[in-house]
Formats: sequence, C-alpha cells, structure tokens
Amino acid sequence: MTTDMFEQRTSGLLQDLRDTGTDKQLRYLTGPMGATVSLEDRGEVICLCSNNYLGLANHPEVVKAAHEGLDQYGAGTASVRFICGTFACHRDIEETIAQFSSTEAALTYVSCWCANEAVIATVVEKNDVIFSDELNHASIIDGCRLSRPRERVVYKHGDMEDLAAKLSAAADADTRWVITDGVFSMEGAVANLAGLVDLCRKHDARLIVDDSHGVGVLGATGRGTVEHCGVLGEVDIITGTLGKALGGAAGGYVAGSRDLIDLLIQRSRPSLFSNALPSSVACSARKAIELVSKDTTLVDRLRANIASIRSGLAGLGFECQDSPTAIIPIMIGDEADAIRKSERLLELGVWVVAFGYPVVPKGKARLRVQVSAALTGEHVEKILEAFGSL
Ligand SMILES: Cc1ncc(COP(=O)(O)O)c(C=O)c1O
Repeated sequence: MTTDMFEQRTSGLLQDLRDTGTDKQLRYLTGPMGATVSLEDRGEVICLCSNNYLGLANHPEVVKAAHEGLDQYGAGTASVRFICGTFACHRDIEETIAQFSSTEAALTYVSCWCANEAVIATVVEKNDVIFSDELNHASIIDGCRLSRPRERVVYKHGDMEDLAAKLSAAADADTRWVITDGVFSMEGAVANLAGLVDLCRKHDARLIVDDSHGVGVLGATGRGTVEHCGVLGEVDIITGTLGKALGGAAGGYVAGSRDLIDLLIQRSRPSLFSNALPSSVACSARKAIELVSKDTTLVDRLRANIASIRSGLAGLGFECQDSPTAIIPIMIGDEADAIRKSERLLELGVWVVAFGYPVVPKGKARLRVQVSAALTGEHVEKILEAFGSL
C-alpha cells in the first residue's frame, strides 16, 4: 500500500467512478467516421455522437485533398509559424476561412481549444473586463483563466438583462469583452447574437463568438450562427473548429480584422511556441469549406435529418426543445441511468453517448444526440426504433 498522496487520491477517484458506474470507456473504431462506424468490440453501428455534421470526415474529395497536401508538403512543418512553419497552404486555408466568415483575415491553430486560449489571452489587457456566458465551453473558460483582466464576470446563460446590468457596472474598463458560444455544445441552444451585437454596440463592448457547433450547420448557406442570426460581418471576433462540420480532422481558427490577426501572429503564445496546423489538414479543411460554399446540398440534407429526428423523438415522448441545431440533448438526470440507456442503445446498434459530471452539472446527465447529413432515411428509422424501445 502506497502512502503517496497522488496515488491514493487517484486510485480512490477511479474506484469511486467504477463503483458508481460513471467511468468513461474509450471505444476503438477500426475504420473512418461516417453515418455508421465499425467498433472493434461491436461491429458496425449507426454513429449518433460525432461532430461529423456534414458527413465530410470521409468524403472522397476531402480525403483526396489531404493526400495531395501530404504529397506536396510532407507530414508537417516541423516548426512554429513564425520560424519556418508557414506553408502556402496555410495562406490558402486562412483566406478561405476569412471569406467564409465574412471577416478581413483569419489565423489557424492546431485546435479551436488553442484558438480560444490564444485569442482571449492575447487581446485581453489588465484594465479590461471579460463577460462570459455561464454555459460557455471549457476552452473559453480556460482562455479566460489564462488571461489577466481586471475582472472576469459570468453572466446568466443567454440573459441580456443580466449582461446589460453587468456591462453598465464596468463602464470604466478600458475594453469590455463579451464571450459566448454560438451554439452551446451540451444544450444545442443558439446564442442570441443579434441581441448581443446590439448590446455590445450600445455599451461599446467587443463580442467574441466561438461557433464550433454552428459553422456548417446553421444559416441558409452554412456560415453559422452569425448567418442564422442575421449578423454576418458584424461580430468582432469569431473562433471555430475544423474538427467538426468542416472536414472533421482537427484544427481551429480565429477570424476577424487584419489588425487582430497581425496581433495574434506577433503575440499569441500557441502560434509563437507550438507547431502549425499539419498541411494535410490545411488542405482537407479547405476542400471541406469549398464543398460547403459550392451549394447548400449538404446543409439542406443535414437540416432535413435534424427535423425528422427531432420530431420523431418528440413523437416518442422524449422532451426535445425546438432548436435548429444538430445537437439534441435527451435529459435523463441520473448519470448511471444515462450510461445504462446509452449501453442499451448501443446493443440496438445506435451509438449515443451519455454525458455526466464534470462535462455537465451533477444531476443533469443526458444522452446527447448529434445529427449528421450522412444519415439516410433508413438510418433515421432504425434510430427512432431503438429509442422507441428504451
Ligand atoms: C464550443 C467548442 N469550442 C471549442 C471546442 C474545441 O474544439 P477543438 O476540438 O478544435 O479543439 C469544442 C470541442 O468540443 C467546442 O465544442
């Protein structure tokens, strides 16, 4: 028996998770991400838990673009951006992202996690105040923790009155930064970006939106929550991921003014001290954005699937809030019960993951359904049949 504190508390925590049936298990896939996936221990199942919203993760043109990136540039940069790690494909993807986001410029990072930490910690100065929605993603929270403002203020989820009062109370700050998810990843709720843009204008505050779950999903042409809310080109800073709808590989970005991007190139620590986005990903993500920009076929297909799954689940008696997003949380409450239900669904050939603490608050465990454009009508039928027998 060891007397080391770290080992004791770690084995205690792990035992506790096992005893309560709330420990997470990694499942191994033996093939690509798609409407169905091949699980090492279960065989083929319908995947209803990936962020592969547009089904582009294994799209032949996206995969081909990655191969071409590898052929032209090799495996990677072996350098951070400012030393010798900026390839022409970085300029190409960044121009494509800026155009898609209706901003002057963009800069990529190896993940949106890095992008959020980079931008928040770089732009926020010591006499600034941050206002963060209480349900913001962990990467925004950590970005806020890394920055050194005069104060970090959390406002009630989506509550414009609470935010307005808090903005007024900090009127003497140098810059006030409002930060929100575009689509909240555990609820599927959409931020009121039109209201936030108005409020920020009124209070002379700046708005940062992480649209990781909105891009490719929302808006008539898939440009995200900004398009859905009618504020394309009106948000100061947008961050997003290339690891979900836009090809599903990895990578993140910040989009905004030319000066903002130049500041990040000079000062943001994840780009100064960490390697650039691999060239294969720069090329595959660019192809993914090209496919989304070409026409609305994929976005329309996703929208139709969201509508049929949402209404089908509601018809079965599950409480689904009315939302245009591809995230449908089914509230269960008890974490072990949620895990049991996800196990049962998997036995029925449908992979849906249960989320509990610390990803969501204690007592608010849920099954999170995530819809993809790749699902066919047959898949949708099978999904609803499985939920119907829960
Ligand atoms: C809202 C939000 N922001 C950022 C991230 C991080 O994205 P990435 O996987 O590119 O780091 C996620 C991932 O789950 C997310 O949901």
